[in-house]
Amino acid sequence: MKSVGIDAVEIWAGKLKLDLPETFAPEKDEDPDKYRKGLGLVNSSFPDTYEDIVTMGANAAKRLMDRKGLKPDDIGRIDVATESAFDNSKPVSTYIAGCLEQVYDEDFHHANKGERKFACIAGTQSIDDAYNWIKAGRNRGRSAIVVATDTALYARGSSGEATQGAGAVALLITEDPSMVELSTEQGYGSADETDFLKPNQQFPSVDGKRSMQVYLARMREAVEDFESVAWDMHPEDLEYIPFHTPFPGMVRKAGLLGYRHMIRDTEIEDELAGEIGRQPREGEYEDWDTYEDAIRDYMDKLKQTDMYQSWYAETIEPTLGLAREVGNWYTGSVHVARASALKHAAEEDIDLTGEQMLVGSYGSGAQAEIHAETVQEGWKEEIEQLTIDEQLAARYDLDFDEYEQVHDVHNHDMTVDVEEFTIPNGEFVFAGIGRMNERKYEYVE
Ligand code: COA
Repeated sequence: MKSVGIDAVEIWAGKLKLDLPETFAPEKDEDPDKYRKGLGLVNSSFPDTYEDIVTMGANAAKRLMDRKGLKPDDIGRIDVATESAFDNSKPVSTYIAGCLEQVYDEDFHHANKGERKFACIAGTQSIDDAYNWIKAGRNRGRSAIVVATDTALYARGSSGEATQGAGAVALLITEDPSMVELSTEQGYGSADETDFLKPNQQFPSVDGKRSMQVYLARMREAVEDFESVAWDMHPEDLEYIPFHTPFPGMVRKAGLLGYRHMIRDTEIEDELAGEIGRQPREGEYEDWDTYEDAIRDYMDKLKQTDMYQSWYAETIEPTLGLAREVGNWYTGSVHVARASALKHAAEEDIDLTGEQMLVGSYGSGAQAEIHAETVQEGWKEEIEQLTIDEQLAARYDLDFDEYEQVHDVHNHDMTVDVEEFTIPNGEFVFAGIGRMNERKYEYVE
């Protein structure tokens, strides 16, 4: 069996940042701890005036290709996942390939290009497409580039405004990957839901509280589906669990539910029984409401236990480090979570080779997917190449008026003239609108 997975990753963060507790919360008359403790966010990344989903995606892809010494002929697919596309016909991948062709001698004329849509899960689905293409032997020895790129903006004054972000992740999918091998086994939880959508509009219609419930329900279905074809999960078998992270507070809820599920009928449940009792079983209760009350009570106690808290600190918290600094990147978010966990392990000198991660992706509308990943020998060398810490440190810190200007610049219904806040250097930039309303890009040395 061929081993297929993620060989390398690059991350490109929007060049601006909004400090949520210090700059945003006071303007909204909110307690900064809603961000620091509740949502678990410190900063959101925003694109500068010359950045958009194409520039961020192309810049991440270029860095990936340069670092891996790749030429366009080595790439047989470019798939872009986004919820922020500006065209219903021409895919963002053609724009990204067009940018890259400005700087390489060869072209991508023999690469298959596409765009995937299913809210935030589309990045994972694009990895799936590349995986299947390689497994089927249709790749002619070539690799695939998957770019997950989004400008996650919400209407000003809406509740989603608290969880914005912008950035791109580029992933190289290959045979015999250096970083992680993907499991053949997958689990799905998928249903027609109306929690978050953009019916031909830029800013989402979102029922935030409902989207949180749907996230957890679909994730639970996906876990059960995964276990039916793979194996019963146990907390000690999984080094990290990167989840889709619209904000870390969401993952806090998913982590607790996942832990409760995994310890059921294990020695951990027995060990905790003396302290907090055993998990309520539905058959022991007269009706659903009493059963649910008992579950809630058990969960409240479970999250206070030392055993749960140390598992969370080791398995979940390391996946959230970057999300706290960048906010929601929609399609890129679960891939930022994976990178965050690996980066943490490299910094802490944890030996991960051969260890397993479980990856939980989610897209509103709604679908969750669960698969396992086995960390490969070259993971540390790959992850140490990331420049994300330097990028985050270099971001321009917006004041509230500037934030509103930037929001307007990226609002498709507005035309405003705002000076850039940073100077582009060795990267693709937006260069105006062409005669057929297409967007144009150029490379700045
Ligand atoms: N100290 C500590 N925690 C605080 C706090 C404080 N001073 N103030 C608020 N909080 C907590 C709340 O209790 C809540 O946590 P909980 O859900 O565990 O109870 C959290 O911070 C958020 O506060 P809330 O008042 O619910 O925020 P909100 O009304 O702005 O809504 C979202 C939050 C996520 C629903 C909203 O930002 C949204 O719609 N986002 C877009 C949709 C989305 O991301 N969905 C996720 C699934 S993909």
